[in-house]
Amino acid sequence: MQQYKATAMAHPNIAFIKYWGNRDDELRLPANPSLSMNLGDLYTTTTVAFDEMLEQDEVTIDDQPADEAARARVSGHLNLVRDRAGLRGVSARVVSRNNFPIGVGIASSASGFAALTAAACAAAGLDLTERELSALARRGSGSASRSMPGGYTEWLMGRGNASSFARSVAPAGHWDLRDVVVVVSREHKAVGSSRGHGMAVSSSLHAARVTAASAMLDACKRALLARDLAAMGALIEQDAVMMHAVMMTSRPPLYYWTPETMAVIQAVQSWRADGVTVYFTIDAGPNVHLICEAAAATEVQARAHALPGVLDILVSGPGGPARLVEGHLF
Ligand code: PMV
Repeated sequence: MQQYKATAMAHPNIAFIKYWGNRDDELRLPANPSLSMNLGDLYTTTTVAFDEMLEQDEVTIDDQPADEAARARVSGHLNLVRDRAGLRGVSARVVSRNNFPIGVGIASSASGFAALTAAACAAAGLDLTERELSALARRGSGSASRSMPGGYTEWLMGRGNASSFARSVAPAGHWDLRDVVVVVSREHKAVGSSRGHGMAVSSSLHAARVTAASAMLDACKRALLARDLAAMGALIEQDAVMMHAVMMTSRPPLYYWTPETMAVIQAVQSWRADGVTVYFTIDAGPNVHLICEAAAATEVQARAHALPGVLDILVSGPGGPARLVEGHLF
């Protein structure tokens, strides 16, 4: 029995300028560029073993067999690797573990597909560049492209498959920011992001957001490089609300916010009036990410804890790139 095995780890990321909508759904080419921070305290570790004796791909996530939809998505992604490596017909055993709860508004698909891509390529004997790995991870989940390079990363729209990848704009050590994730719901979202991206064009606000996105990203990147949280915070709040306005005006509409989401937004505004420098952003769900400098994180966390309806709080600083690790999960 011949086996080719590798293990990789990757961090999820939080987008400051969001990706919402594709110009090519099959290739996951985004409608707009995006900018994010890897979350270094959170990670997914994945082992991939190609095994000629296996009849079909076997996928385990957090010690549970993956449901059929998840298994099919992983298999589809592995096919891209198999095609490139000449391994068509060779199935794989995939074991993946997260050190954070899934379904709490942290994109486990970003770290999941970045770790899967890095491990599968190494196991298949492919020696790809970071750009090639990022473009490949993008095919599994768009935001996974941003989890491949380290620190603060920018995903370029590109002209086609090979040129739409993410690159680092600053290392993790550039700025000691915190993402304080305020969990107000643990319910599995009814409409996942893959379906949501397809609905974006049905909103008449989508084109306006896409038109504004590149200039917003450039301004946000300048503020990030200058470590100017007030300038960056205003932009990330504006972009998150613009994205949710697109979602809410899609046909059918997508309402991810709950009353608790709005309560956190209003609390953040009043905390700023008290002199606490903190800004919010929200992904495709009701939970709110609070972005602040490390020195303010304890205060922000304490204030968030005191809000009604808060179920949990997770905190992470910036993180490095996806990487291969020693040892396997099975
Ligand atoms: O990578 P996906 O398909 O899970 O989409 C991510 C979408 C948002 O989290 C809402 C925004 C982003 O850029 O991460």
